[in-house]
Amino acid sequence: MIRCERPDQARAWCAAGRDEGRTIGFVPTMGALHEGHLALVARARAENDLVVASVFVNPLQFGERDDFERYPRDFEGDARSLASVGCDLAFTGTLADFFPAEVGADGRFEPRALRAPGPAARGLEGDLRPGHFAGVATIVARLFEIVRPTRSYFGHKDYQQTLVVAELARELGYPEVVVCPTLRDPDGLAMSSRNRRLSADDRPRALVLSRALRAARDLWQRGERDPARLAERMREVAGDRGVELEYAALRDPERWTPGEPRGPLERAVALVAARVGPVRLIDNLRLDGPEGLS
Ligand code: PAF
Repeated sequence: MIRCERPDQARAWCAAGRDEGRTIGFVPTMGALHEGHLALVARARAENDLVVASVFVNPLQFGERDDFERYPRDFEGDARSLASVGCDLAFTGTLADFFPAEVGADGRFEPRALRAPGPAARGLEGDLRPGHFAGVATIVARLFEIVRPTRSYFGHKDYQQTLVVAELARELGYPEVVVCPTLRDPDGLAMSSRNRRLSADDRPRALVLSRALRAARDLWQRGERDPARLAERMREVAGDRGVELEYAALRDPERWTPGEPRGPLERAVALVAARVGPVRLIDNLRLDGPEGLS
């Protein structure tokens, strides 16, 4: 696998691949890779001639209460993992490398250069993390411009992000956005780079997220279609278990709304966010879908 410390090197390599008529599958990451990321790379490997991954902890998408400084970083380990699943090229860079025209001599990013995300950025994560999706849209648009992928792969765990990225791709006219299932530990905890920061005491507490989702799915399977009742059930399950629940919410997966839809719902995705000790976790589950969560 080729490793590039500068995005410009990756840009040239990708351009040469495209000139030869090769398709490119792209997996953008912030590193601290786990099996969920590697499954995205494996899927990209199966569906494209070339596979490219980026590893960049993007400061533009972190807010004041977020954990930019403490976000796990391990480029060496990440590069080894990417190579083991058939990635052809991994690249990284600094903020100034990615945005040479937008970062001033003081190292600060020019806020006016942030990209406005589409309507899917409103509500839930968008409300609780102001500016987060602008930061995501800005870096993802730049990464797409560097790689110009045929397809790009994202995990379902970051559900609202997948909608924001799909809107961005529609606006740009490329790439095809492929959303892959959430991978979970055997006890149901959704894989996340942030799980590494859970203490031994907090790790079991983090299971309230998947338990709340499972409870909503059970109620759905018993015929409940009222989003308010489904959300209330999630709050009952997640409440008072030593975690700070930020939201337990329902949305129609085919029609994103900033607030809770009125219902009754024909299709539903249940979404939760909670702080478990110092770590903020999110998870979601299609209630009408086949995805298992035992
Ligand atoms: O999902 C992530 O890891 C990040 O939000 C992404 C898409 C790599 C952009 O920084």
